[in-house]
Amino acid sequence: MTQTIFSGIQPSGTLTIGNYLGAMKQFPELQDEYNSYFCIVDHHAITVPQDRLKLRERTRSLAAMYIACGIDPNKVTLFIQSEVPAHTELAWMLQCVASVGELERMTQFKDKSEGQESVTAGLLTYPPLMAADILLYQTDIVPVGDDQKQHIELTRNLAERFNNRYNDIFNVPDIKIQEVGARIMSLQNPTKKMSKSDDNQKATIYLLDDPKRIEKKIKSAVTDSEGIIEFDKDNKPGISNLLNIYAGFTNKSVDQIVAEYEGKGYGDFKTDLAEIVSNYISDIQQRYHELYESEELDDILDQGQEKANKVASKTLKKAKKAMGI
Ligand code: ADP
Ligand code: NA
Repeated sequence: MTQTIFSGIQPSGTLTIGNYLGAMKQFPELQDEYNSYFCIVDHHAITVPQDRLKLRERTRSLAAMYIACGIDPNKVTLFIQSEVPAHTELAWMLQCVASVGELERMTQFKDKSEGQESVTAGLLTYPPLMAADILLYQTDIVPVGDDQKQHIELTRNLAERFNNRYNDIFNVPDIKIQEVGARIMSLQNPTKKMSKSDDNQKATIYLLDDPKRIEKKIKSAVTDSEGIIEFDKDNKPGISNLLNIYAGFTNKSVDQIVAEYEGKGYGDFKTDLAEIVSNYISDIQQRYHELYESEELDDILDQGQEKANKVASKTLKKAKKAMGI
């Protein structure tokens, strides 16, 4: 039987090369093999305050970006989370299965709430919503970046707990992580992951950046004073991160790249890397700009909504019955 994949991205900013290498790059390869659901998770984005107009624009922008990165809307279900009400309904039910303690232990919650005077309840209950996203489609595999490991583990726990306590309703999904792009780091602080919601624009390469900007950001990326190109995540996190980015965009192995640059300095390496990244994403950008303006995008999202609603409401119905509501 064909297996199902589900993956979501928040419309919380412009997509980064971290999102691409960690998640999106593999979607076009997977769509032929799997029954695929790709979601724009706007309910997740509002766990922190968002500007209304920007959020709308980013939601549409993300839809266009999925397709520009190679998603074929005829093969997959591409949809907006808030247009499928089963997500929040099941999320509530799963919140009643989850414990506050286990949600407080999530590292993403700890990172995002650290030093904040006040955080939303939604930031705490983000993981059960994510579990609902995944479980509604009886997902087998979740292709995401390394940062989502703990959330997927929780999703598995909630599914198993629900199944044991009530009835065997949910498939228990597995995570799928890219070997090379699993965790792309900030260019300015290579011990922190690159994120589209980082305030420091220099730390992040966006998929919509122009070649000049990309060159500037890569040239000013933090490395070390040794000047030797080798992969050593612990002692040389900066250059190791750039090597990962290079590998992700060329499909060469890190070892091969290191061998090619033997005896060369960071300057040459950075110049080449900037060109590689710019060339690679220029095709994506062109497709993106064509799509963003088109009415076709609205039709695609309408169809996605309809398809997702059908499947999701079926699972929700079973889960409600099992719980007695
Ligand atoms: P962000 O943290 O940039 O806002 P999301 O939370 O919307 O990203 O995640 C979208 C997808 O991109 C997820 O699969 C996530 O694991 C992946 N991802 C996010 N940041 C990175 C990164 N720095 N490296 C690799 N994958 C990442
Ligand atoms: Na995130």
